[in-house]
Amino acid sequence: MTTDSEADESDGTEIERLDKEYVFGTWSFQSEVSPTEVTHAEGVRFTDADGNEFIDLSSQLMCSNLGHSADAVADAVADQMRDAAYVAPGYTTEARAKLGEKLAEITPGDLSKTFFSTSGTEAVEAAIKIARFYTGNHKIVSRYRSYHGATYGSISVTGDPRRLAAEPGIPGTIKAPDPYAYGSTLDPMESVEYIDEMLELEGDTVAAVLVEPIVGSNGILVPPPEYLPRLKEIAHDHGALLIVDEVMSGFGRTGEWFGADVFGVEPDIMTMAKGLTGAYQPLGATVVTDDIAVHFEDEMFCHGHTYSGHPAAVAAGLAAVETYQEENLIERASEVGEYLGERVDALAERHPSVGEARGVGLFRGIELTKREDERVPFGERADKISKGSTVVDEVSATAYDHGTYVANMINTLILAPPLTITEAEIDQAVEALDAALEVSDDAMEE
Ligand SMILES: Cc1ncc(COP(=O)(O)O)c(C=O)c1O
Repeated sequence: MTTDSEADESDGTEIERLDKEYVFGTWSFQSEVSPTEVTHAEGVRFTDADGNEFIDLSSQLMCSNLGHSADAVADAVADQMRDAAYVAPGYTTEARAKLGEKLAEITPGDLSKTFFSTSGTEAVEAAIKIARFYTGNHKIVSRYRSYHGATYGSISVTGDPRRLAAEPGIPGTIKAPDPYAYGSTLDPMESVEYIDEMLELEGDTVAAVLVEPIVGSNGILVPPPEYLPRLKEIAHDHGALLIVDEVMSGFGRTGEWFGADVFGVEPDIMTMAKGLTGAYQPLGATVVTDDIAVHFEDEMFCHGHTYSGHPAAVAAGLAAVETYQEENLIERASEVGEYLGERVDALAERHPSVGEARGVGLFRGIELTKREDERVPFGERADKISKGSTVVDEVSATAYDHGTYVANMINTLILAPPLTITEAEIDQAVEALDAALEVSDDAMEE
């Protein structure tokens, strides 16, 4: 605890001190938490309490897809809160019904009926329960390099090290290898055939295979084009559903509405949150196919929340989807994403510590190596749950000193700017990354 008399300038602003004292920092050793007070955000930029301005190259937590000035969304929320701030889920509002209809329109295939929640993790919890109810099986196969949320079911199906503290977790969760060409011994297409064998050996008792179509926080892993179609075939051959977790990859991030669209795959269940409202309100959604929806006509849909379909949240969702459509932001993400890709490839050429630059659209990763022309990560998976900073943390910190916020995890910088970013803003951010990657270049082994 810090008393007022002990506090000095180096402890930050009064708000930052209060926050550190009274509020938990997430996924952190509390002694290492150092919150920055944000006083304003506009376009692709945000400003701290000292007046420093930053380009938001990661859309905060890869969620502010519309940037920080989507007035139509802010207005829709304010109007809804004045009209009817809250009604119970047994009632409906215009925005809830219309957003359900919109999601059926923009999602692939037969996905048609939505359960609304308030976060990505709740969207995944609902998907797990629905798959179990529908198939009568309880096992869920997911992958090691994945993140699906912090609540008990979702953290149990998560593969990354954040799961370990929550173990043993819920029963029936099984982990599979990843399509991770950079650091795994299995070729991506071998890894998918391994999942076929896993389902076979489980005796066809699996309810669902759950994957991020393009892995997000675990390093922007893009599988080969044939991977996801083959995974769906494998799941169905064994009586399991394919759940695609689009919480991070959805809403234009990849240059398509959803990551599954990049591969032309129609999943059985899709989860989404983040970009669904452009982060203007907390909203999660779990969308299922007609067949699954029909199953619950005469079987109880045994799930719900007080805030399922919260009027302000669905008002934000509807206005956000309309904004993506009216401003052609999905197409825009694809075009500007090409440019970001070119600029990132050029960085990779220039900096020996870049082991691989990968991604699609405005969803890109820069993975570091400590040995030139080899793929030797600076960071290990265990670093995610250890004290202290890693080389990739120092790269992010240096980019921040140069006016660009870029998220990272383990050994990879995560570039996922708002879909509204301009080429000039990309140039400015890339300049900061260029300076920051000197840090990893200097940290390389001889
Ligand atoms: C793919 C994926 N699923 C689920 C979640 C959990 O979402 P939330 O933090 O809104 O619960 C995340 C969060 O980053 C995610 O990236």
